[in-house]
Amino acid sequence: MYTQLALVSSVLLAVFTQHAVAVDKTRDPALDANLVTAATQLDRLALLDSDDAWLFDFTKQQPYYNFAPGGVVNMNAATFPAAKGNGMTLAMLNLGPCSMLPPHYHPRASNYVVAVQGNTTTYMYEENGARLVTETLLPGMATIFPQGSMHMMVNNGCENAQLVSALNADDAGTQARSKPYPNIGNVFTNGFPADLVNAAFGQNLASSDVASKMTPIGTGSNWGLSECLKQCGIQPNDTYIKF
Ligand SMILES: *[C@@H]1O[C@H](CO)[C@@H](O)[C@H](O)[C@H]1NC(C)=O
Ligand SMILES: *[C@@H]1O[C@H](CO)[C@@H](O)[C@H](O)[C@H]1NC(C)=O
Repeated sequence: MYTQLALVSSVLLAVFTQHAVAVDKTRDPALDANLVTAATQLDRLALLDSDDAWLFDFTKQQPYYNFAPGGVVNMNAATFPAAKGNGMTLAMLNLGPCSMLPPHYHPRASNYVVAVQGNTTTYMYEENGARLVTETLLPGMATIFPQGSMHMMVNNGCENAQLVSALNADDAGTQARSKPYPNIGNVFTNGFPADLVNAAFGQNLASSDVASKMTPIGTGSNWGLSECLKQCGIQPNDTYIKF
């Protein structure tokens, strides 16, 4: 069991250690490499020689597939070698009651998202000077987050929400999940000098105090608004740290 101190240190570690960010780990780098150098699709089929190699079960991807608070499961080149070279990522986004995907963007892919369950509010901001685009996605409704656009989404209801997400790269990348300021979280992990970051923002943002208050990335979703948690009777717990 964690002691209080170990708990605090693991939160800090999660914030400061790049490896703690929810990054897909390449499961079989050798197979991915062989799939790239294979001359033909038949050669690739010979490398993916069992039916199991073509089946990806989102529900078995733990700890990411959960609804408290939720998580993101990616079927991509890292998690599923059969996806290598097909130019796509398929993801399932689980948002339990009152959970959100914090602000982030994908440097190498546009992102189409369709809701299959629940009620999700999305926010998208493309660039300086752009207007904020906000949508409510009920089952069967979709929106688009163009490549590089900053976006976030929240389930403000007490029921689960689930969305299917398609990205046009098998290595779409994800940047900048953070709280409370969009696009700030990665200043803690990207190696920029803290004094220069603080000069740019005119306040002491890149500090251990601010970092210690930030929600760890966990499995991709984090708890959202406290009013919602209260309304739905949810006591947020250490779900993040299990990652
Ligand atoms: C969906 O959620 C929004 C924001 O919480 C709310 O305003 C809206 O009434 C909800 N829609 C439905 C159909 O439940
Ligand atoms: C954490 O809280 C959620 C929501 O209240 C609950 O479903 C889950 O079982 C809790 N997990 C633990 C480890 O207490």
